[in-house]
Amino acid sequence: MRLRHVRLLDARGLSYPQTVEIPAGGAEERDATGLILSPGWLDLHAHLRDPGFPEKETLSSGAASAAFGGFTHVVAMANTMPVTDQPDRVRDLVTRAADLPIRVSVVGAVTIGLEGRTLTDAMALKAAGAVALSDDGRHLMDGDTLARALRAAARAGLPVLIHAQAEHLGRGPQAEAAAVQDALDSLAQAPGARLHIQHVSTQAAVELIRAAKEQGMPVTAEVTPHHLALTAGDVAPLGPFGNVSPPLRTADDRDALVKALSRGVIDVIATDHAPHELPAKAAGANGFHGFETALAVLLGLDLDPRVLYRACVERPRQIIDQSIDDEWILIDPDREWTVDPSSFKSRGKNTPFEGRRMRGRIVMTVCRGQIIVERMLQRV
Ligand code: DOR
Ligand code: ZN
Repeated sequence: MRLRHVRLLDARGLSYPQTVEIPAGGAEERDATGLILSPGWLDLHAHLRDPGFPEKETLSSGAASAAFGGFTHVVAMANTMPVTDQPDRVRDLVTRAADLPIRVSVVGAVTIGLEGRTLTDAMALKAAGAVALSDDGRHLMDGDTLARALRAAARAGLPVLIHAQAEHLGRGPQAEAAAVQDALDSLAQAPGARLHIQHVSTQAAVELIRAAKEQGMPVTAEVTPHHLALTAGDVAPLGPFGNVSPPLRTADDRDALVKALSRGVIDVIATDHAPHELPAKAAGANGFHGFETALAVLLGLDLDPRVLYRACVERPRQIIDQSIDDEWILIDPDREWTVDPSSFKSRGKNTPFEGRRMRGRIVMTVCRGQIIVERMLQRV
């Protein structure tokens, strides 16, 4: 397909309007005036709840939701039921993912049952197709266990993704800082390992990561759209529907996260898409729907387009060693809409942005050369 008058997002930022040909839709030509074409985004942190929690999400509902949000590739966390801690479970998910409209990569657990005690077989999980290891949702390893996990992951060539929250310290900012410091100490004892800090939420953690990077440590970090856009005060009126782990913090923390992202101290934007059914939220479950609101939330932050490209396209793929395979999204940055969770493709309607007026929508998603989403596009 030829897209006329489209602006292209790449490492240099946004181009002037030009004609771009993408490998989908045959010989068609369309007027894309006002639209932005980007390589498909990769979400490094998603909970697809499959197997085990079909009331929250399934591979297929999660994939549809991701596609409508502009993610052509997402990385599924291991806190399913059963936990993805065995090679055959990874293999099963990889096989089922092959039939989805988008790409889904699979994370294997670091420890059996996410319990923080017994290491999984990193080499076997890698051979089964895992792209990384993570106990996300929990963080129960002591420093010695984490150092051993990092060394095993290094031998398997996998990064370790950490939900940095020292659980014995609760959920405050000090619990995050302590876990990041411990993880960096473990990393220092694991030559060749790669450590990635998930959903950084505090200024203190940003400072530790910045200092570690300055010393040349192989650490990367991610931040969620909600931690970039919201504070604890914003969700206080929502009661349990504002629960998320890590929690939203202060305006100073939020501003520090935006700055760290812009400076490259934080590498990646990842949604932590955590769908829950509404009764579970009412009962206190942590997490927000992420896929279908991410783009508009991020456009609302007015980030440098080069930062957006780095954080949503380039760095997440580098971290899990994935290339891009005819994956494109077409964005209408001016299209206005109101967040209505009942319209989500996801089973998770749990969003703190319900009712918000937003600007920025996906009008087309292409994955593996196929148009998988199309929302009203002018033909010429
Ligand atoms: O809010 C969260 N929800 N944070 C996590 O780390 C886990 C996730 C979930 O699985 O619901
Ligand atoms: Zn987490």
